[in-house]
Amino acid sequence: MIRAAIVGASGYTGGELLRLLLAHPQVEVTQITSETYAGQYAYFVHPNLRGHTELRFTRLADGSTGPSGRDCEALAPCDLLFLALPHGHAMERIEDLAALAERIVDLSADFRLREAADYARWYGREHPAPEWLTRFVYGLPELYRDQLVGARYASGTGCNAAVTLLALWPLYRRGLVREAVVEVKVGSSEGGHRPSPASHHPERAGVVRSYAPTGHRHLAELIQELNLDPQQPGLHFSVTSVGIVRGALATCHCLLHEELDEREAWRIYREDYGAEPFVRLVRAKRGIHRYPEPKILSGANYCDIGFVADPGQRRLVVIAAIDNLMKGAAGNAVQTMNVMYGWPETLGLEFPGLHPI
Ligand SMILES: NC(=O)c1ccc[n+]([C@@H]2O[C@H](COP(=O)([O-])OP(=O)(O)OC[C@H]3O[C@@H](n4cnc5c(N)ncnc54)[C@H](OP(=O)(O)O)[C@@H]3O)[C@@H](O)[C@H]2O)c1
Repeated sequence: MIRAAIVGASGYTGGELLRLLLAHPQVEVTQITSETYAGQYAYFVHPNLRGHTELRFTRLADGSTGPSGRDCEALAPCDLLFLALPHGHAMERIEDLAALAERIVDLSADFRLREAADYARWYGREHPAPEWLTRFVYGLPELYRDQLVGARYASGTGCNAAVTLLALWPLYRRGLVREAVVEVKVGSSEGGHRPSPASHHPERAGVVRSYAPTGHRHLAELIQELNLDPQQPGLHFSVTSVGIVRGALATCHCLLHEELDEREAWRIYREDYGAEPFVRLVRAKRGIHRYPEPKILSGANYCDIGFVADPGQRRLVVIAAIDNLMKGAAGNAVQTMNVMYGWPETLGLEFPGLHPI
């Protein structure tokens, strides 16, 4: 049994982490932080957890009194820290945080990229702790399982990056792709719990809104992990906001060097993912569930992947779906923890999702 704390537990990914860890047989959650809700019960913010925990939020760093008038403890030492802060916070205080726990899983983008220069290019700022970048393992177990076993520090992944990477990895690692056009449709919870004009209900509900036709930051992770030329990646990546709360669907048009029929594609994907506990291959000729869709993945840690060949066109359309808060964030972070500690990888992640939903 380990003692874990969640920093940024009032947010959407932090709330999902708390839900998962409360049911995890090897973890005791000792502290949860929020600056805004310090002193409040977790279920005040995450009402689904009413009756599951009496934990209250504490502030991250000081021992002052929260808005409810209750005393808040400072963050105490523990075995594992999950960091679920907005981008740019963990990198500023990584030394302090690392002094509190032997191991860290950081869900933000702060330690996903190995090259410090990439932070200036993609995030518009110098990384304040570049020496930490190579200490973190990119936390996608399907690609980094061996390095994660026993690791002390793991990053999370961008949710759009994770769904795209899992879709493309078998083709790219075999050098089959000449160029690819990827469109990811995402739900509103990707933006976190802080409201903005763009997330205001009349503006956000029911949208199909181009969010980042080019230049999305998660492309940096794809370039890094697929070993692409940073100047000419040949991977054209767009993100569109759609009117759902959870979910990301990647439609990847892979323009191949050679024709690849579906039989061969199936063989390749089964070779890479056949033993993966959280990647499911979806192939059905009939029915309404012929292709992956995020709706049925709500709350589950799966990445569903399917594909369709376009005969004579050297084009394979790979379609992948996840719940952005699960395989795109909290679920994947718990899977990563399981690998780091050598526990069964599916521990605490057995929920298969709901249907209908
Ligand atoms: N949402 C997704 O689908 C997703 C997927 C993959 C990765 N991620 C990454 O995961 C991280 C968290 O995302 P999220 O969607 O959970 O964000 P969120 O809902 O906005 O939650 C952010 C959390 O950080 C806390 N926080 C904010 N500013 C802080 C500060 N200055 N000091 C201390 N705590 C602070 C917030 O607490 P209070 O506001 O209560 O004070 C809240 O608990 C981000 O880096 C994001 O990029 C998100």
